Order: sequence, then C-alpha cells, then structure tokens
Amino acid sequence: MSYPYQLKSIEAYRAAYKKSVEDPESFWTEIAENFKWRKKWDKVLNWNFKEPRIEWFAGGKLNITENCLDRHLETLGDKPAIIWESNDPEERTRVVTYERLHKRVCQFAQVLKNNGIKKGDRVCIYMGMIPELAYAVLACARIGAIHSVIFGGFSARSIADRLEDTKAECIITCDGAYRGGKDIPLKSVIDDALVGNNLVKKVIVYTRTRIPVSMIKGRDVWWEDEMLKVTDTLPVEGFGDAEVMDAEDPLFILYTSGSTGKPKGVVHTTAGYMVWTNYTFVNTFQYQPGQVHFCTADIGWITGHSYILYGPLSAGATSVMFEGIPTWPDAGRFWDIVDKYKVDILYTAPTAIRSLMGYGLDPIKDKDLSSLKVLGSVGEPINEEAWNWYNEHIGKKRCPIVDTWWQTENGGILISNLAGVTPSRPSWATLPLPGVQPVLVDENGKEVTEKDEEGFYKGNLCMKAPWPGMLRTTYGDHERCRTTYFATYDNLYFTGDGALKDEEGNYRITGRVDDVLNVSGHRIGTAEVENAINMHASVVESAVVGYPHPIKGLGIYAYVIVTGFHGDEERTRQDIVQTVSRIIGPIAKPDKIQFVTGLPKTRSGKIMRRILRKIAEGELDKVGDTSTLLDPAVVDGIKEGKL
Ligand code: WT7
Repeated sequence: MSYPYQLKSIEAYRAAYKKSVEDPESFWTEIAENFKWRKKWDKVLNWNFKEPRIEWFAGGKLNITENCLDRHLETLGDKPAIIWESNDPEERTRVVTYERLHKRVCQFAQVLKNNGIKKGDRVCIYMGMIPELAYAVLACARIGAIHSVIFGGFSARSIADRLEDTKAECIITCDGAYRGGKDIPLKSVIDDALVGNNLVKKVIVYTRTRIPVSMIKGRDVWWEDEMLKVTDTLPVEGFGDAEVMDAEDPLFILYTSGSTGKPKGVVHTTAGYMVWTNYTFVNTFQYQPGQVHFCTADIGWITGHSYILYGPLSAGATSVMFEGIPTWPDAGRFWDIVDKYKVDILYTAPTAIRSLMGYGLDPIKDKDLSSLKVLGSVGEPINEEAWNWYNEHIGKKRCPIVDTWWQTENGGILISNLAGVTPSRPSWATLPLPGVQPVLVDENGKEVTEKDEEGFYKGNLCMKAPWPGMLRTTYGDHERCRTTYFATYDNLYFTGDGALKDEEGNYRITGRVDDVLNVSGHRIGTAEVENAINMHASVVESAVVGYPHPIKGLGIYAYVIVTGFHGDEERTRQDIVQTVSRIIGPIAKPDKIQFVTGLPKTRSGKIMRRILRKIAEGELDKVGDTSTLLDPAVVDGIKEGKL
C-alpha cells in the first residue's frame, strides 16, 4: 500500500492543514479516493452543530472490512495482520495473516447470520484480548451488525445496563480470560448480567480457559461448534459476501462516562470513522509499509478499536495484540514483546509508563529495543518525568514521541505532533491534525484572545467544525448528545477539557474541567462512583473527587457519611469498595475513603467540590472562602480527618 496523503514534512503538514480548513470538501475527497467504495459519495460533508447533524460522504456505500481485509489480500495476503502474544510467555505466538483473518472473519460472520443476527442488530462483546475478539468485532462489521465491546473490568451490573441500553439480542464472550496471574470468569459475569434480561437470544462462548461454565440450551452455544457448521471454503478472495453499508450507517457503540451517573453510548458511523482512523494512524505515527505496530490498549476502549483494529488494518499494517498486563510475570513484558516481534511503533499510556518506571532499569536490561522507531502516549497528560524516562530508556533518545490527545467521542487522534515531522515537546500535545479546528473559549463561549501571566491563552477546549471521525449521536438519546457536547457553547463541540495554547498554536491539555476523572487513562464519572457508593446499605451521602496519584494520574477520593460502622471503620470501608466493584467494576474502586459527618454545602444544597478537591490534594490552606457555606465548620472536621 502507499499513502499519497502521508505528510512527510512540516511544510506538507502546513499546506494540508490550510487546505483542510479552507476547502474541506476537496481535501477529504482526495483522501477518501484511496479507499474501496461500492459506490462513491454524493456529498462530502453536511453539518449543523445545533441539531447536531453530521454526515460525511453521504450517499457513499462500502463495507469497512473490505477496506481492512479484502483489498489487502492480493498484496499482503501472507503478511501478518495480527500477531498475538499470550498472557503466558510460554504459550505459542499466533500469527494471523491477512488471508487467515479474512477467512475467519467471513466464517464468523456466517456464524452470526446462522444465529439470526442481521444488519442493524446490536451485538455486545465481552471477551479477553485474543484473536477471536478481533474476528468477532470485524464479523459484526462485515454483516452490518453494530458491535458494542465491553471492557473486561466492568461488572455484571454495568453489562446489564449496557445490554438494556443497546437492546442487544446477542452476546459474544469467552468462558474466561487470563490477565496476569488472574483468571477472570467472563461467562459467569455474563450469566449474572442476564438475570432478568429477556432480550438476549444468543450467547456465543469461545473456550479460552476451560473453566466450568453454565450453558443454557437454546441460548448458549459454543463458538467452536458453530464454526464447524460453516464451510471452510468461503471466498478468500474478492468481494461479495460483505453487507453493503451506507457511509453513515452505525458501525459501533462504545460506552463512556460523563458528568452524570449514566454512561453514554457513543455512536460512530462507517465511512468517516474509517477515513479518520486510517488518516490519523498513517500520519501521526508515520507508519511505513511492513512496520509492526504495538498498541497496548484493550479493545474494550476506543484506543483499541481505532489503533489495534481499524486504523492499522485499513492501512495494511501488522498489529500486535497482547492478552496480558505489563507487569506479569515481570515488569519486562512490554520490552520482551518489542524485542521478540521487532516492534517499530509502540503506543501506550502514561499510567503504564509510570508504573514501569517504578521497577527501575533492570527489566529493560538485555532487551533489544533497537527496532523501535516511534513512541506514542495517550489517555491523559504525560508528565515530564514520564516523558523523559520514555524518551531516554525506551526510545534511547532516537525515537520521536507523539503525545496524542483525543477522546472516545473523537474516533481518532485530534491533536498531536506527527512523528519526526512536526516538533515534539514534553507534556504538550502540540498541533491539531488537518481537519481539526480547535478554539479556546471562556465560560461564556467567547474565544480567549488575551494571554495569561505566563504568556499562554487559557480556556475550555472546543472544536469549531466537524472532522470525519467525530461521534454522530449517543445511542437511543440524541438529545443527550446535543446537551452534553453541543449546547454548552453556541455552534461549538465542547470537549470537556481545559487547555493552554502558545503563540505558535501549540496546545497543552490541562485536564477535564467537568466532573470526569481520568484514572489510569480510564474515564470515570464522579457521579457514577457516588451513585455506587450510595447504594451501600450504611451510606447516607457521598462526594467523590480526584487527587494526584503517582501512577494512576488521578486517584479516586471519596468522602462518605455513614449511619454507622459494621464491624469497624476498615471493614466498612472494604464493604463500600466491594459494593462499587459490584455496581460498576473493579476499575472504579475508590483509592481512599474518608468518613465524614458532613459535606461542605452551599445554602442551596450544592456540594462545593472545589473545597473537597483542595483537601484531597493536600492543599489544606488553599480551600479558599468558606463563608458562603451553610456550615463552614464542617470543613475543619474534614481537614482534620484527611487521609
Ligand atoms: C480524555 C478522553 C483517547 C483515547 C483514550 C482516552 C484525556 C486523552 C490525552 C493526552 C492529555 C488526554 C482527556 C480527554 N486525554 N489523551 N494525550 N493528553 N489528556 O479516551 O476515555 O474518552 O478519555 O482523556 O482528558 O478528554 P477517553
């Protein structure tokens, strides 16, 4: 494959950026021409942020899997599409060539059809990081079913909510999953999630750990048995069997947290998402044909969707998929993988880097990292210390680091330097990609035009115009999409992040300005955690804030009022943690729980989180004015009990 749209110099970037703003339609036409369409589009872009209504390549017809698989068969058929590394370093590698991946996807697509799944149906996927997860996702896309992957760290209750919201009729899961030293009983969690659910008709179960599972006649079927029923001689070449999709047909739903208690189902559609993940993959990482790309995210998050599957596969790249965790059996696991598969591009999260830094340099010693060309970071601001360590000890100061800022709602990278093409700068995401038009606004939505004392423009980060990969709606509730993203400021998409901008137009993301926390690069709403804590039998009220955590970026700090302790304080604390784990999942467990007798509230009853945040941060003398509180004395009590 060649990528005529790859920007190889800063001048090329500047020219592309200018054109993308001045004439977006002809800019994106030239790029979209490089894909396989069953029918070309009638109109490149229709948009209106008020409704909101965003359509890219309207009238176009295609199937994204023909772009990720079929079109590579002739030239890359025998090349690895996915290299799979087991949780167990002793287990053999599985190399899935493009030809094999195509075949498996076609076969599993047939399995889905045999089980009554058709275009437009929602399919929830709850699996470990094994190649079958990729087959399942792509098979949905092949037949036009809408996939909704649920991360393995979510509880039965969270899954039940998502099943209800998507009205899914099919689940694809595994008996269990291996993660480090743990075996996670996925099917058993699904069984719990299905209590009381009467919409799900089929559960397809892949055997990974072979732990005993309950299998219900008529509903639960084994993946392996179903695969035996489909012919082994499906077309391995050419088109034909894939469902022809409209450019704006939904491709997937992915749930993400916001400032209310209920996660939203972000909807991405077909053509725009495909073009965007491909364009950003090829340009940000400066991917060269033949390179091996290792994105360490889980496919349960958007990063995995876009940069393990759709971006790299649409570009014909080799994508490494890792089942395990960075610290098992030891903290050298990532470096072993880089060494073993001669990884060119490594894309990971600051939280992983910080955690690995803690193990010192021993786990890196004797690992050959000379294949690395580009390093990437995503999920939260990367602090300078982590950036420097990554640069020095992993990139050996010869690999550009791309600090990629984006969100689940964005489909792909929006602000980042381009590896080796535009300058990098520690803790700065730097420049917008072509097609991305950021603006910093004040609380009233007015563009910030004055610099602060440090010489930066500072404000809330918004986007003035649509890019192909942006969300189109929130599933089942378009009004929620409008109020969450498009109603805060007139005619702007609001990201929820604050940022600084310098004179040259470089951006530095300062973090969320809403009640959303980035914990270990995972997004969690404080309201969601509060709701879960409040479900504990002894809890009267709670307030949750973030506090700086050396590894996770932010930790979860909960202030809780209880009617009494069951056993003692510590046991009650553990019960609350267990409750949260049951309600949301282990990823939302509070790191600290402080029992308090009151919360700082205004006379109108609003909790003053600013005060709680300062105390959690340890800035006890910076809580500011408390005179507007109903009872200023509660603040002293909270300060005294700080953990
Ligand atoms: C939030 C989105 C995008 C995939 C992973 C997270 C924060 C993300 C960066 C970065 C500073 C970042 C933002 C954003 N974030 N990347 N490079 N620098 N902050 O996706 O779960 O939707 O979270 O992650 O606060 O709003 P997500």
